[in-house]
Amino acid sequence: MDLSECIRNRRSIRKYTQQPVEFDKITKIIEAGHEAPSAGNLQNWRFILITDKNVIRSLYNHCLKQEQVYNAQAIIVVCGVVDIAERFYGLRGKRLYTTQNCACAIQNMLLTAYDVGLGACWIGAFDEDKIRSTFNIPENTRPQALITLGYPDEIPKPPHKDELAGVVYFHKYGARIKELHIVLRDYSVEWEKQIAQAQESIDKGMPKIVEKTKSLIDYLSKKFKEYNKEKKKKIKR
Ligand SMILES: Cc1cc2nc3c(=O)[nH]c(=O)nc-3n(C[C@H](O)[C@H](O)[C@H](O)COP(=O)(O)O)c2cc1C
Repeated sequence: MDLSECIRNRRSIRKYTQQPVEFDKITKIIEAGHEAPSAGNLQNWRFILITDKNVIRSLYNHCLKQEQVYNAQAIIVVCGVVDIAERFYGLRGKRLYTTQNCACAIQNMLLTAYDVGLGACWIGAFDEDKIRSTFNIPENTRPQALITLGYPDEIPKPPHKDELAGVVYFHKYGARIKELHIVLRDYSVEWEKQIAQAQESIDKGMPKIVEKTKSLIDYLSKKFKEYNKEKKKKIKR
């Protein structure tokens, strides 16, 4: 699949069919996670794969009873080994880089899931202690997210996206450019604007044209009547 198509059309899928997920597809997804960039190439992510239905169902209670957790055919728990990053980068490594590394891996996995025809959802809302104890996750490691997987049983509507121009600044934070689409060479926006303007002038112009045509017709028919009158007079003479 084309990359931009994959990025644009991927959606969080929260309803799955009962069709089991092939192991080679899961492998491809995990491999994609492992290909992600990471600070200093630390790769301090760890992936716990769960395919046991009973375990999956038990996680439902630890994830605010989210349906997609209960119905998932497979779940990947993404963990970050915090002390590795801390050793190299101190507090920044501990607090920021580990989360960012894992987030890169997660996005790679979500995109790959979509690419292989699976639905996936990033689960960030869960009871960290419960997840930690269920999987014996050690103290130096933090569960960052769960990824639910399964064949999609829904086609969600695209979510609202804020205007790009509202989130892009030029040179300084907060400095917006009015016509970002021109900078980005998206001429379609300009064309759309011009068509709308043309339509507006037609709409505005129409009553005037009708009015002018009517007065012209009135004037001509008056002249025509006068002419006919004169003509008849001439004939009588
Ligand atoms: C950090 C993070 C945590 C999230 N946690 C949850 C979650 O617990 N449950 C859920 O249904 N979706 C969760 N999502 C998915 C978002 O709700 C979803 O990405 C967003 O609504 C945009 O929809 P889209 O993924 O279809 O583009 C999470 C996403 C991120 C990035």
